[in-house]
Amino acid sequence: MAQRPYIVGNWKMNGTRAMLSEARAIDRAAQRNMKVEVALAPPFTLIHAVHREVEQIGVGAQDCHPGEDGAHTGDVSATMLADAGAKFVILGHSERRTGHNESNELVRAKAEAALAAGMRVIMCCGEDAATREKGGAEAFVLAQLRASLPQIENAAERLTVAYEPIWAIGTGNNATPEDIGAMHTAIRGLMVELFGLEEGAEVRILYGGSVKPENARELLSAAEVGGALVGGASLAADSFMGIALAVADAPEG
Ligand code: 13P
Repeated sequence: MAQRPYIVGNWKMNGTRAMLSEARAIDRAAQRNMKVEVALAPPFTLIHAVHREVEQIGVGAQDCHPGEDGAHTGDVSATMLADAGAKFVILGHSERRTGHNESNELVRAKAEAALAAGMRVIMCCGEDAATREKGGAEAFVLAQLRASLPQIENAAERLTVAYEPIWAIGTGNNATPEDIGAMHTAIRGLMVELFGLEEGAEVRILYGGSVKPENARELLSAAEVGGALVGGASLAADSFMGIALAVADAPEG
């Protein structure tokens, strides 16, 4: 990996202020382990509090509205998230695509709003089990990404892609390193096609789906894997930083 591995925790709809002690513990551990770049995306309600508590780790959000402001009850704009201390936003997660019917077009509009507000974007993609069984995973993921990525000048500089096969999320099932490597290599090809050789090579591509301290080193040793997007195992400092440590200690590939 040319850049430091990037390990991002997605807390999803978990966490009250009682969890701030975990965020502090993660931050302290990250200060002792500078070989890895660590970030957390807590729920909206904790973004500002986590931002105030931590010194080393990045803090981000899990969604934003594509608009700047206005009559959108219950929504939160990218500008508001940046004001609360978020430096990035996770977009296009399968739980939002499925649970909130988010289309590629909507995801793309959100990504453009996030970049316009000065934030970075972690763009998620991934196929379901039926698509993989039919042999169509790669074509599906590349088409999903093409339609979801922001069409803004210099977008690559502030873009991270996260490949999260839906059937591996929260299930304990993992893709094999070979399958991960093949998908990430295909995604790298798309990055180079869209952004050019140099910029396309710099976009980090994370893997997500049941990443744990025990399997992190193997999964993240696959080709073109620049880190992990971690759900369940990011909720406790021990398991989350166990992943970061496993990756930091891995021999150079
Ligand atoms: P799990 O690590 O719980 O499988 O979740 C992965 C994920 O969806 C991260 O965004």
